[in-house]
Amino acid sequence: MKYLAIDSHLFIKNRKKFSAKLAHNTFAIFNANDVMPTNADGTMPFRQNNDLFWLSGVDQEESLLLLYPENPNEKEREILFLKETNKEIAIWEGAKLSKEDAFNASGIRTVYWLEELESKLKELIIKADAVYLNKNIHSRAATEVETRDDRFRKKITEKFASKQIKEVAPIMHELRSIKSDTEIALMQKACDITEKGLRRILPFIKPGVMEYEIEAELMHEFLRNRSNGFAYQPIIGSGIDSCVLHYIENNKACNDGDILLMDFGAEYANYASDLTRTVPVNGRFSERQRAVYSAVLHVMKEATSMLRPGTIYKEYNVEVGKLMEAELIKLGLLDKHDVQKQDPKNPLYRKYFMHGTSHYLGLDVHDVGSIETPMQEGMVFTCEPGIYILEEALGIRLENDILITKDKPFDLMGNIPIELEEIEDIMNA
Ligand code: GLY
Ligand code: MN
Ligand code: MN
Repeated sequence: MKYLAIDSHLFIKNRKKFSAKLAHNTFAIFNANDVMPTNADGTMPFRQNNDLFWLSGVDQEESLLLLYPENPNEKEREILFLKETNKEIAIWEGAKLSKEDAFNASGIRTVYWLEELESKLKELIIKADAVYLNKNIHSRAATEVETRDDRFRKKITEKFASKQIKEVAPIMHELRSIKSDTEIALMQKACDITEKGLRRILPFIKPGVMEYEIEAELMHEFLRNRSNGFAYQPIIGSGIDSCVLHYIENNKACNDGDILLMDFGAEYANYASDLTRTVPVNGRFSERQRAVYSAVLHVMKEATSMLRPGTIYKEYNVEVGKLMEAELIKLGLLDKHDVQKQDPKNPLYRKYFMHGTSHYLGLDVHDVGSIETPMQEGMVFTCEPGIYILEEALGIRLENDILITKDKPFDLMGNIPIELEEIEDIMNA
């Protein structure tokens, strides 16, 4: 791992919050993510399961966490099962976590090697009234691949058919949606690295520069700051591709006079940041670009001020839609009379602003959390309005990451240039 060690108290406290939510005499199991294959003997880089990480800080493949808060055997209320290093692993990959390393990372004293899992599980399952298992129930998840947790569930339900199974995901979504101070500091760090990336590329952007050259500059800045890289596939889209919401080809030259939309964020210690800035390739906004940019920025500022305790996500989106509607009328893109007659279920502004304004942010970019629950202190949301005018090859989105606090919303990206003049000044410095 490139990130600095995290104080294990974060994970100790997280387990405490989690344990308080479990039913009487039950335990929960969390599996690491798989190392995903590519082709031949190739694999994707390992990315830890975020629930297991949130509860343990263990960032190693094949790990398993078992939490049994009411186990009469106090030593086995928290158990980590880890892959043991052998000579072969030590030579080819380097040593895996020792029991001492695992304790330092997690604060968990009972660490067993994976060989002990089966017999230990049998022993504990007999004692417990039910077992909580993990599953990816994210509303936007669309994967055909079976996870390690899915395979584990199959084994458990076959072997112990009569045991009651409970779902851990709703508990994790609720807990992870509220960020502690330590987590906020890690997220701030991710945002600060993203800021360095933006400041590096603004003077670098010129007519003729390739979109992938900008991506490469960002990666350089991220890695040298202890980030593992992008928190998600970066979008570096110039001209017409500024209107393609998930453009990730990043393979064109940026042309004089065109707009350039860049949606990228560094990850740090598995936490995501998520930024969008839209800039003129030649360093000076045209009048039309300026007008659309100002409209988006206005909506963003108003929307940000609504990210407060008590705000209901759905109502917030309706309000932002109204703000957007007014801006689109001013820009001549919508007609006031048409808007008055529109179907409220299918408002006209959606032609130019077709995505939501905000999503939870945390260990996941589109982080877990309920959109029914009123907003609460400690939640982090993006704020990312946009206007996409395909006919003009002009897409503008702006995005910052906002912490909900008791008082004013706190912008974790408040130091990152966004005003038109600031952007032009840095690009032309
Ligand atoms: N970068 C993904 C998003 O903005 O939601
Ligand atoms: Mn984004
Ligand atoms: Mn986003």
